[in-house]
Amino acid sequence: MSRFTGRTAIVTGAAQGIGAVYAKALAAEGANVVVADLNAERGEAVAKQIVADGGSAVFHRVDVSDPESAMALAEFTVERFGAINHLVNNAAIYGEMKLDLLLTVPWDYYKKFMSVNLDGALNVTRAVWQHMVKAGGGSIVNQSSTAAWLYSGFYGLAKVGINGLTQQLATELGGSKIRINAIAPGPIDTEATQTVTPGNIVKDMVSRIPIKRMGTPEDLVGACLYLLSDDAGWVTGHILNVDGGQIIR
Ligand SMILES: NC(=O)c1ccc[n+]([C@@H]2O[C@H](COP(=O)([O-])OP(=O)(O)OC[C@H]3O[C@@H](n4cnc5c(N)ncnc54)[C@H](O)[C@@H]3O)[C@@H](O)[C@H]2O)c1
Repeated sequence: MSRFTGRTAIVTGAAQGIGAVYAKALAAEGANVVVADLNAERGEAVAKQIVADGGSAVFHRVDVSDPESAMALAEFTVERFGAINHLVNNAAIYGEMKLDLLLTVPWDYYKKFMSVNLDGALNVTRAVWQHMVKAGGGSIVNQSSTAAWLYSGFYGLAKVGINGLTQQLATELGGSKIRINAIAPGPIDTEATQTVTPGNIVKDMVSRIPIKRMGTPEDLVGACLYLLSDDAGWVTGHILNVDGGQIIR
């Protein structure tokens, strides 16, 4: 028996990058996994790979910024696997995000960005929490970033919001035996980071991190699975940095 045998987990933004690695790790520890993403082609491929490796997974298309889409994701999961025990709110606009300032970013883009990168986590949580109550409780991990403590404009602002959401929801969900925590990764070597962050900036960032290398999605898996699992049964409202020591706080 593994920690997640018989449990069902939804991972948003799981079509690639960090989310795909979380989905594979949860399946490897016995969970039924719903790979939830906007990108159907890549999401289907991740679910297919998990099944080929002997795991249990299915893809479902979701737009985390849309309440109806989030509700449909929750209903699909319960129909397919009978319950929802765990949620990882990982989806975000990151790889192809606009590089602009808070002072000048087009307002419509800013609103859309926040509706995905901040409200998306609340939206999917609102859609699943009552199903977790029916399952006797559950756990949620939100994907934050060390960007919450560094200048990074509206991207960092959304992650400050994710941290606040994690702390506030811990109180609203605690009485229902649902724990909610966040992981704040430092720079992680994904396709998205390679697209959005110029090589010289990455190099400079890495030179100032105590453990002098970029992180990998695999570096985050232990923290994510710990926070989701019963091993963290009395941990909630916590923001866990997994960042090679990048942030002192
Ligand atoms: N890579 C890093 O250096 C790093 C560091 C800290 C935090 N993070 C956070 O980790 C998460 C994943 O990062 P990544 O590098 O794997 O990024 P990524 O861009 O590869 O993955 C994001 C995924 O979210 C999906 N997505 C975007 N909008 C969506 C929506 N509206 N509904 C559903 N899915 C949507 C995308 O299709 C994509 O599959 C993000 O929350 C990011 O902010 C990344």
